[in-house]
Amino acid sequence: MRTITWNDDAQKVEMIDQRLLPQEFMINAYEQYQEVADAIRAMVIRGAPAIGAAGAFGIALAAYQSKASTTAALIEDLEEAGAFLNKARPTAVNLAWAVRRMLKETVVFDGSVDELRDHLLASAKAIADEDVEINKRLSEFGAALIEDGDHIVHHCNTGALATVDWGTALGVIRMAQEQGKKIHVFVDETRPRLQGARLTAWELEQYGIPYDIITDGASGYLMRRGLVQKAIFGADRVAANGDVANKIGTYMLALAAYDNGIPAFAAFPMSTVDFELESGNMIPIEERDEAEVLQLQLLGKRVTPGNASARNFAFDVTPARLVSAWITEKGVIYPPFTANIKAAMAE
Ligand code: MRU
Repeated sequence: MRTITWNDDAQKVEMIDQRLLPQEFMINAYEQYQEVADAIRAMVIRGAPAIGAAGAFGIALAAYQSKASTTAALIEDLEEAGAFLNKARPTAVNLAWAVRRMLKETVVFDGSVDELRDHLLASAKAIADEDVEINKRLSEFGAALIEDGDHIVHHCNTGALATVDWGTALGVIRMAQEQGKKIHVFVDETRPRLQGARLTAWELEQYGIPYDIITDGASGYLMRRGLVQKAIFGADRVAANGDVANKIGTYMLALAAYDNGIPAFAAFPMSTVDFELESGNMIPIEERDEAEVLQLQLLGKRVTPGNASARNFAFDVTPARLVSAWITEKGVIYPPFTANIKAAMAE
């Protein structure tokens, strides 16, 4: 099943509840855009492309929720819903991208209020379908970089669960395996929410790809011992100069890779590039509740002294100079990113 789908009979959006995996596989259904925003915030659904699709379906729900009888009034309600959804999580630009794309549909649409509602649902479904296609395309480009026998460090979860389906960085690994290459993955556990240990490991088991979970920060040691050939991760927002914001710990991974002469690839759809931001310093970084750090995930048990405090930055920014290449649906793009991305977009 896809991470997020529309149920036509129930007129609801359905999502796999990623907070419960791998222990429990549960589907949550939502009929209000405010619930979708809450689900994004609480990380029922997570991963930049998946959040984008959730934002798109959130706008479709808002269209059906609205009591507006004119298109102008409906658009006003949708703009309010868009602003509300955009606030759910700040770093992944795919959310704002999808909301903006949905709102643009209202500008070019010529028809009745009800037709606009249906058109918005069709647009959200198209965004979801496109995501899967784009992921497969970028994975084909990326798989060419992977060699038979590679041991690859992977950070966070960038698989089917982080997207509508298939995945980005993990999609590259899947594609390489489907091409018959033998690959082993070192899965960064990805504190504090353990997207690696819980979600990436769960996915890899289903794909039959051998893996070992490693603690965050272990990759430097493995690289120095010659046990790793590549590092690969996704992105939540990429600035025009090539700086990559991704799950906290990505910067340290890229630094270790750089110091050891190991290629570090960032895989993402072009909707993750924020051309309006000159550099990664301008990317808003989400800071989440300290409880995620102070408690052991899932057990909900506090493991730290009663008075301990924590900072919980959910993302960091890896400077472009540490990224060996971008893997996108437009192809593999090498530095200098600013110039080469323009050429790739023009094609
Ligand atoms: O906080 P999360 O789990 O939403 O963070 C996800 C990541 O950082 C992913 O690596 C990124 O969104 C790319 S997913 C294809």
